[in-house]
Amino acid sequence: MRTDDASAQVAAYLQQHETKGLLRFITCGSVDDGKSTLIGRLLHDTKLLLDDQVSALEADSRKHGTQNGEIDFALLVDGLAAEREQGITIDVAYRFFGTERRKFIVADCPGHEQYTRNMATGASTADVAIVLVDARKGLLTQTRRHSYIVKLLGINRVVLAVNKMDLVGFDQTVFDGIAGQYRALAAHLGIAHVQCIPLSALRGDNMIARSPQTPWYTGPSLLEHLETVPVEQHDTETAFRLPVQWVCRPNQDFRGFAGTVVAGQVAPGDAVVVLPAGRRSTVARVVTADGDLPVASEGQAITLTLADEIDASRGDVIVAAGAPLEVADQFAAHLLWMGDDHLLPGRPYLLKIGTRTVGASVTEIKHKVDVNTQEALAAKYLGLNEVGVCNLHLDQPVPFASYADSRALGGFILIDRQSNATVAAGTLDFALRRAANIHWQHLDVDKAARAAIKHQQARCLWFTGLSGAGKSTIANVLEKKLQAQGRHTYLLDGDNVRHGLNKDLGFTDEDRVENIRRVAEVAKLMTDAGLIVLVSFISPFRAERDMARALFEPGEFMEIFVDTSLADAERRDVKGLYAKARRGELRNFTGIDSPYEAPERPELHLRTATADAAALADAVLAALGLH
Ligand code: ADX
Repeated sequence: MRTDDASAQVAAYLQQHETKGLLRFITCGSVDDGKSTLIGRLLHDTKLLLDDQVSALEADSRKHGTQNGEIDFALLVDGLAAEREQGITIDVAYRFFGTERRKFIVADCPGHEQYTRNMATGASTADVAIVLVDARKGLLTQTRRHSYIVKLLGINRVVLAVNKMDLVGFDQTVFDGIAGQYRALAAHLGIAHVQCIPLSALRGDNMIARSPQTPWYTGPSLLEHLETVPVEQHDTETAFRLPVQWVCRPNQDFRGFAGTVVAGQVAPGDAVVVLPAGRRSTVARVVTADGDLPVASEGQAITLTLADEIDASRGDVIVAAGAPLEVADQFAAHLLWMGDDHLLPGRPYLLKIGTRTVGASVTEIKHKVDVNTQEALAAKYLGLNEVGVCNLHLDQPVPFASYADSRALGGFILIDRQSNATVAAGTLDFALRRAANIHWQHLDVDKAARAAIKHQQARCLWFTGLSGAGKSTIANVLEKKLQAQGRHTYLLDGDNVRHGLNKDLGFTDEDRVENIRRVAEVAKLMTDAGLIVLVSFISPFRAERDMARALFEPGEFMEIFVDTSLADAERRDVKGLYAKARRGELRNFTGIDSPYEAPERPELHLRTATADAAALADAVLAALGLH
């Protein structure tokens, strides 16, 4: 991503134009609705283009242009070579321009179905959205999806740009029809302010000045509207908030907490609290590169020093003592899913909110939203570009505000732990209190005591591998050997547990995630009881095996990869299931039409082609130091 670059550009631009009012807007719509042409036209006609840029553009238009040698404004914004070749915009491009009255930052958002992510990025900082529609096509699914996301991310003002009016003969009835439909949609979504404008971005009608082609239209031109539309504060947070980006400690005598003020003001002498820990102190200095400040406010990058030697680290939030933030670890949230793989409840992800990153999982998908009708639909997973209302569980409490109150303190992303890709954008709605009222009950007899009375160390031996690889056979032999030594054991076997505790689960990805989540929790309880627990489940996904591992203390969990090739497992086919799967009578069969992700760094790698079950069980005993 080019986020750092982009924010540096934005900062530089803001510095240059400090004195004028600023409007941030985004453009969105379907491919070919004319977004790039519209932005190019605005840039060109507001005469901020440098002359040499114009001549380069003319040359380019002759080479690549789709407008018969006239200037192709789309080329101005479709900056990347790859985009030019594809003819679609594939990333957010920030553009800066200004007039006498205002300065503008526009995020050009791609219309291609796959790139909702970029649109969400643009929308999360914008005041106004221009939603383009092609006058010949009217509202499309994309129009509805983008309008939904615009509202979700807190934009309350939309310009409906009905573009390509020249191609429908500037017909008022066409415009009125589309505008009426869109007003109804906006009312349904709760978008408070809508301005519909008939346009031809290509020819310039109603772009800068009102067009003689639309005498029936009495509203403002696009630029007039953008210059005068009120810019509202999205956030209602007004008390001081500083998410700590890093701790600055150049020498023994100086310790400062650096970050950007996301709300309110701060001055030396102010009482503050560091969250989530809740330590109190007083601001000593407000330091910047240009010296100390008497006061700093929203948007400023500062380093705070405090009167007391208290600890704070990256991800903490320093807030006004009189108006602290809530701290919680369970939330109701909206999620916009952008991952290629489905969102699966129970799967562990990373959640980044402000400057803090914590482990998180979705405990429940309440429903997903049909973006065409805004209907709530039942869902077991979320697919690419789907929006859902979910309950989230974080593995640590975080300071937060609802997104409606603060974009900076209520907006988050989810990151896939395996690929590190951003897989969702989300908004926190409110904290769920339930879990906060359940405390850990202290028990006097602990795991060590329970294990000691059995003269053993509690362990979890996690066997993973294909169906028919030999997991259960080896685990069975191993349990007998442990018994013979007088050890206290329990064997949790996939087939058996699926007859009881997990009999409601099948073999879809989401059911397997839940299957492993439950058995991992059971194994943890049994380990806590002081037992040596053997778990024999296919457990095909790395993410869930990692989740299981994370439940245990260091050294307690042993991942044992029972490695049999698919060909060998299929040849043996003890239960006849591979044959059934090949005949198409069994769906989602691991290795056939459902994936198996082999362990990358198992504690033990057993190759069944080279040794029998007894020898492999001995190898486990040896690894445990129990032979
Ligand atoms: S897991 O993938 O969710 O970990 P688990 O170990 O509980 O699977 O159950 C696997 C066992 O269920 C297999 O050994 C096999 O006997 C049986 N089974 C039935 N259908 C399937 C299927 N579609 N895929 C894999 N195993 C299946």
